[in-house]
Amino acid sequence: MLMTPSVLNADLSRLREEVERIAAVSDLIHLDVMDGHFVPNLTFGLTVIEPLLRDERFRSDCHLMIDDPDRWAPEYARAGAYSVTFHIEAARDGAKLCSDLRSHGARAGVAVKPGSNLDEIAALGDSVDMILVMTVEPGFGGQAFLDDMLPKIRRARELASRSDGDVWVQVDGGIGAETIERCAEAGANVFVAGSAVFRSDDPRATIEKLRAVAERRQA
Ligand code: DX5
Ligand code: ZN
Repeated sequence: MLMTPSVLNADLSRLREEVERIAAVSDLIHLDVMDGHFVPNLTFGLTVIEPLLRDERFRSDCHLMIDDPDRWAPEYARAGAYSVTFHIEAARDGAKLCSDLRSHGARAGVAVKPGSNLDEIAALGDSVDMILVMTVEPGFGGQAFLDDMLPKIRRARELASRSDGDVWVQVDGGIGAETIERCAEAGANVFVAGSAVFRSDDPRATIEKLRAVAERRQA
């Protein structure tokens, strides 16, 4: 069970401080890169987060909601990201992109929007280190968890189990104390939580609480 809080709902004008505030209780730090094209929202890009990717005290988990990941995603890996996830809907050659990410030392993650199925990811076979099942429409924090995604999480876990490697199943969107159990039961092992953590009075305690709930309900 890995906790990877999203800083999307933190105070982004104090990004490093916000990351440092939760780093000790987090396994990874989820960084939502949005380009205003692939999703309607705009956050930050490589120029802003590069110092964090280089910092060996954190393991960064970059979620790229961008067009043309074939061109841009390897740059995040090269800069030192621990994990780089691109959207299958935006990629031209997913297999090559996964192999590029690995060759720069990152884990290769592939994400699907709620409306996309897992067939294209299944076709990538052992190239993939993590499947990210979006449990909200990507673009904004604070949305309600889509229960309809639970069967997709189960299928992602099946795909992951078929692989020889250590493939993770990540869920992102609407994850909190009330929804994390269902995801863990369905087979997710990497949990992104944004607003549940940063809108709480004590983000660190919230992360610990979520972790405890997920561990109790592990599939
Ligand atoms: C949404 C982002 C998420 C977001 C999750 O497009 O990918 O990582 O920060 O926020 P919550 O946990 O509030 O749904
Ligand atoms: Zn995300």
